[in-house]
Amino acid sequence: MTAIHVLNGPNLNLLGRREPGIYGSATLDDIARDLAARGAELGCALTFRQTNLEGELVAFVQEAGLAGAGVLINAAAYTHTSIALRDAILGSGAVAVEVHLSNVHARESFRHTSLIAPVCAGVICGFGPLSYRLGLDALAHLMAARIPNAKP
Ligand code: DQA
Repeated sequence: MTAIHVLNGPNLNLLGRREPGIYGSATLDDIARDLAARGAELGCALTFRQTNLEGELVAFVQEAGLAGAGVLINAAAYTHTSIALRDAILGSGAVAVEVHLSNVHARESFRHTSLIAPVCAGVICGFGPLSYRLGLDALAHLMAARIPNAKP
């Protein structure tokens, strides 16, 4: 079974009440439930986590990468600022896919730069909670290509 860690950064615990015009009404629990259903269809074992702390997010990435699990990451604001997160993806050898609910390229210029995108396999943004689902599908395919006989 393919192991995938879904890692969420700062303020994503506030989804549902946070700037609903941008992020919508779904909560992080709603997203976790939807991904769990899709993960089961794909034959993936999901670990779903959120933290507001940069160092903890780095530790989560290291743990996943060193265990050979795929990383689906919405690093939220740390996307745009964290060299440590980029180094953690590289250093742990994590296969990572970056996701965002909003279309960061249609927003403020400081959101146009991602420090982690260059070390991720790909980036999906702008589709609300569907970004996570699309990212999970993409990551499951990538992981399956690395692990013989794994689904899908
Ligand atoms: C976000 C986009 C980031 O720029 C922002 O800081 C977030 C959420 C998104 O999912 O759209 O917290 O990652």
